Amino acid sequence: MRWIAAENPSDQGCMAAEIICRCLQKKPDALIAFPTGSTPLPMYASLVACYQSGQVDFSRMRGFNLDEYAGLPPEHPQSYAFFLWENFYRHVNVQQQNIFVLDALADPVQAAADYEEKLKQAGYPDLAILGIGINGHIGFNEPASVQEAFCHPVQLAPETLAANARFFSPGEKTPQSAVTMGMGSILKSRKIILLASGKGKAKVMARLKQMTQIDPMFPASFLFLHRDVTVIADRDAWPQGEMMTAES
Ligand code: PGA
Repeated sequence: MRWIAAENPSDQGCMAAEIICRCLQKKPDALIAFPTGSTPLPMYASLVACYQSGQVDFSRMRGFNLDEYAGLPPEHPQSYAFFLWENFYRHVNVQQQNIFVLDALADPVQAAADYEEKLKQAGYPDLAILGIGINGHIGFNEPASVQEAFCHPVQLAPETLAANARFFSPGEKTPQSAVTMGMGSILKSRKIILLASGKGKAKVMARLKQMTQIDPMFPASFLFLHRDVTVIADRDAWPQGEMMTAES
């Protein structure tokens, strides 16, 4: 696991966008798994800027969302299909047939099986961009004594529900469950980038930095099983007491 320090979220977004652009220059039809949440917003802004200045072409890129709330229609402003469309896809020349999202309205077990099959047919991600939850979740792989390897439905953890409540209006019914790529699906990616920004992530990043075991109660630890993981953490999320270097 390679750790790279970014000065701030915007710097982090540029660094992640640059990796994506390089990936697409090498392989224009690369399959990329994309996260949602606050952390990747600067990366999407940076990707849109790269597109507008002619540095990157998304016309053959295949994009897969990492996860989705169960039961939210794609036009719901908090659905992850909507998030990716609104913050990224609609601003660039990605082709509609190359956008893959989980079917949040289908039976979750079936939706998960179908999505895993689509990933398999497409050859799994060339690059997966990930965020991390304060409980160490990746995608919506929540801490659990046993981890499902592949795409699966999941009950959201109390910490996740609390953290994501900010996106919903007060009194609005928030989804309690989701469908997510499993850690096994994610680990099939050729390259993985993990993004963390903000003081709220310093503790979880310190735990990840110090950990030496794979613990299903801390899903991010499964990333130790992959040979090409780059963590990009900004100054606020950087583990306290650890030396901050441009690359370490
Ligand atoms: P955040 O979410 O970027 O909004 O903190 C990350 C995650 O929960 O994976």
